[in-house]
Amino acid sequence: MIRVVSSLVVALGATTAALATAPHSDFKLSLSSMPAKPAARQARVRASFAASSSRLAARDTTSEPLFDYFNGTDLQWYGDISLGTPPQNFTVVFDTGSFSLEVPGTACGAACANQHQFDPSLSSTFEDEQFNTTITFGTGIGVDPVVGNNWELWLSFVADILHVADMTIPFGGFFLITNQTSTFAPDPMDGIMGLGPDASDLFETGGYPAIFGMLFVPETEGGAGELTLGGVDTTKFDGPLLFSPQQGSGNWALSSRGIFVNGQTASGLQKNLTLIFDSGTSNMLFTKAIAETIYGMISPDIVANPDEPGTYGIACDLIPTLPAVIDITFAGVSGQNAFNLTIPSSELSSGPFRNKPELCQTLINVSEGFNLVGLSLLKHYYSVWDIDNQRMGFAPNGF
Ligand SMILES: *[C@@H]1O[C@H](CO)[C@@H](O)[C@H](O)[C@H]1NC(C)=O
Ligand SMILES: *[C@@H]1O[C@H](CO)[C@@H](O)[C@H](O)[C@H]1NC(C)=O
Ligand SMILES: *[C@@H]1O[C@H](CO)[C@@H](O)[C@H](O)[C@H]1NC(C)=O
Ligand SMILES: *[C@@H]1O[C@H](CO)[C@@H](O)[C@H](O)[C@H]1NC(C)=O
Ligand SMILES: *[C@@H]1O[C@H](CO)[C@@H](O)[C@H](O)[C@H]1NC(C)=O
Ligand SMILES: *[C@@H]1O[C@H](CO)[C@@H](O)[C@H](O)[C@H]1NC(C)=O
Ligand SMILES: *[C@@H]1O[C@H](CO)[C@@H](O)[C@H](O)[C@H]1NC(C)=O
Repeated sequence: MIRVVSSLVVALGATTAALATAPHSDFKLSLSSMPAKPAARQARVRASFAASSSRLAARDTTSEPLFDYFNGTDLQWYGDISLGTPPQNFTVVFDTGSFSLEVPGTACGAACANQHQFDPSLSSTFEDEQFNTTITFGTGIGVDPVVGNNWELWLSFVADILHVADMTIPFGGFFLITNQTSTFAPDPMDGIMGLGPDASDLFETGGYPAIFGMLFVPETEGGAGELTLGGVDTTKFDGPLLFSPQQGSGNWALSSRGIFVNGQTASGLQKNLTLIFDSGTSNMLFTKAIAETIYGMISPDIVANPDEPGTYGIACDLIPTLPAVIDITFAGVSGQNAFNLTIPSSELSSGPFRNKPELCQTLINVSEGFNLVGLSLLKHYYSVWDIDNQRMGFAPNGF
């Protein structure tokens, strides 16, 4: 999910500089960038953590399964974390498009009735950091329109022990959701855990190299997935990983050298573009000119759906006959050739529009100002998010 800056209600001091330079992300309170802790408290929590830390230090990677939230189309993958002492369990989207962890707290009450809610009073290691804020997202959980602030969380900043797979963060700063818009209510997962390109503190604190691997298997192939922290799971892909350098800071982003549709290109597609890679967005977002050029090359029958601004669709019965292979060329890291990542024709449709079931929504949504590839592409590759080396790697996952 990509955050939009709109309604931060708390002055964030030094972090407001990040706001000004990151148009579609918000401030960068990473999970372990905690306010200073009283020394006695640190010692106490560290002692409770010491027993496991030597075991963790001996390990290179730790993995956990991901589950596909499929509702007509693949929407999101999510997995387990736990927080507090004793641990309270939650499911979260591991979101490369955001930077912090949010889970519902008991203060959310009825608005979070379908999700697990963290109860601070049950955790002996909990700490309230005493400030509140909000986050607004620019892409939601599904493929439905984001309208104004209809994906918004009200948050309270807190800290506690965090476990993800076998990684433990003894002082994790995170947000408890105190209220949320109703768009979040039907989601099967509880929260969101941001894994942006500057999450190195998280891995250092947890005792793992700052790199993670992700596998997203589409529902049609079983709907599984895996998150590996500290490295990659080489059993989940064949062939070499091809790496491209991270562009800029803030979001995971690569420089594309050009886009091809069914092997053809067009002048509007042969240019350098910065593409954000977001594991928390189901489909793809391009500026209008690029989206309409790509759509024009697939079929003149793909048209904007005015009922849901920014979306496009085509008569569902035309989908099976349409080749719509999209190749995107990326620069290789130094010494490596450029390479293509390919989105197969099977991604063209994200299923019928709710209010116009004969019209199927197509995979690219228009978003002025930035270009983003989400799970439509990521579910066909094993992806490596290499924080230490500021690069991303890909190898076909066979799906
Ligand atoms: C939390 O998850 C762990 C690991 O899956 C499990 O062993 C434990 O029973 C769960 N705790 C609760 C309260 O559900
Ligand atoms: C934050 O919000 C919670 C829930 O609405 C409230 O109980 C708490 O007092 C607020 N904290 C601050 C520091 O404003
Ligand atoms: C596409 O983006 C536009 C502009 O940001 C937004 O209004 C629309 O709701 C989005 N639609 C989807 C399907 O994400
Ligand atoms: C929670 O947010 C909704 C808007 O989604 C608002 O109508 C409601 O009043 C809020 N509830 C509280 C307790 O602030
Ligand atoms: C699936 O989508 C439908 C609308 O198409 C919605 O009403 C329902 O709540 C969703 N189900 C789940 C489990 O999210
Ligand atoms: C990418 O794919 C296009 C065809 O769609 C092809 O012409 C081009 O050579 C490929 N580029 C690389 C680097 O493989
Ligand atoms: C894209 O950027 C590369 C590297 O900076 C440069 O060599 C190439 O000429 C650029 N291509 C276009 C079409 O601007």
